[in-house]
Amino acid sequence: MAEPRQQVDRDEAPGPRSAAPDSDVLISATGLRKTFKLGLLRRKTVQAVRGVSFEVRRGQIVGFLGPNGSGKTTTIKMLLGLISASGGEAHLFGERVPSRAARQRLGFLPENPYVYPYLTPREFVELCGRLSGLGGKRVRTRAAEVLDRTGVLYAADRQVRRLSKGMLQRTALGAALVADPELLVLDEPMSGLDPVGRKEVRDILFAERDAGRTIFFSTHILSDVEAMCDHVVILRNGQVVVAGAIRQLLRGEVLRTDVTLGEPSAELRAALAADGFTVRERPGVVVVEVVGQDAVGPLLTRALAAGAQVVEVQPRRETLEDLFMNRAL
Ligand SMILES: Nc1ncnc2c1ncn2[C@@H]1O[C@H](COP(=O)(O)OP(=O)(O)OP(=O)(O)O)[C@@H](O)[C@H]1O
Ligand SMILES: [Mg+2]
Repeated sequence: MAEPRQQVDRDEAPGPRSAAPDSDVLISATGLRKTFKLGLLRRKTVQAVRGVSFEVRRGQIVGFLGPNGSGKTTTIKMLLGLISASGGEAHLFGERVPSRAARQRLGFLPENPYVYPYLTPREFVELCGRLSGLGGKRVRTRAAEVLDRTGVLYAADRQVRRLSKGMLQRTALGAALVADPELLVLDEPMSGLDPVGRKEVRDILFAERDAGRTIFFSTHILSDVEAMCDHVVILRNGQVVVAGAIRQLLRGEVLRTDVTLGEPSAELRAALAADGFTVRERPGVVVVEVVGQDAVGPLLTRALAAGAQVVEVQPRRETLEDLFMNRAL
């Protein structure tokens, strides 16, 4: 597989850790590997992460993508020092992981957050604040602030076991934010949220980015990454297949034009298909895929001459979904 880091501009994109220390590199993974040993005799192995390298620089919002089981959570756990790597190195804020000092500068939302069921969101977030070194009045004010930001202040004094999944997720996000960290590492922050909740979390993350925070988060929601992130790292089968600045990866070239025709005759449909056009049937219309912008005009002329209506002409540019489908699956 081609080295993904070669595709991108080193100044612009997640790439390898440079030899010279660079205080703007907040996360650095270099050749990270993880092999799990299974079974009583530990003879069976799973190579979950197989040589992952990338960087996250100060001020970036980086989306971490990959199909189920591609190694995102395992990589995140190694980056945070929650599990040991089988090979390679992880650095946070330039410090080799595990580093207590580096950990104090980050907020983490785990994939399936465990929140003590008999605490309230306020008690839980205050506890996390105290564990991160906040004290006295400051921790109480800050906990109320973040619970307000994440939309659970109205339920701040209910026991966590009585909260919905989305409210629990928001409580855990509040805990990640409480100590005002420079770096947020979030493993599927939108998980369990309804569309309104997702938008609210997107807005929270934008605000955190605008406040100078660096954000690295995994997700399956490609449209969120397209809307929010400046950079992306895509894993497949434990390896990085794409890494870079989204605007460089998706250069905006028109891949094809979808021409939607109303009331096309059976003859026209058959003739277009015979000429090699992909023709998709939709209720009351057909969509003709036209490759090459020069071919659009002649197709329109031909359709109009055959008595069809032109309903829509839609240039299709490469999306993150195309990139994901082509490279990650
Ligand atoms: N503790 C473990 N023991 C054994 N295998 C594990 C363990 N944790 C993860 N794996 C395996 O490692 C691979 C990567 O899992 P991981 O959870 O990192 O994927 P992921 O990209 O986070 O997936 P998802 O999108 O479903 O969250 C999978 O094959 C998984 O079964
Ligand atoms: Mg995961």
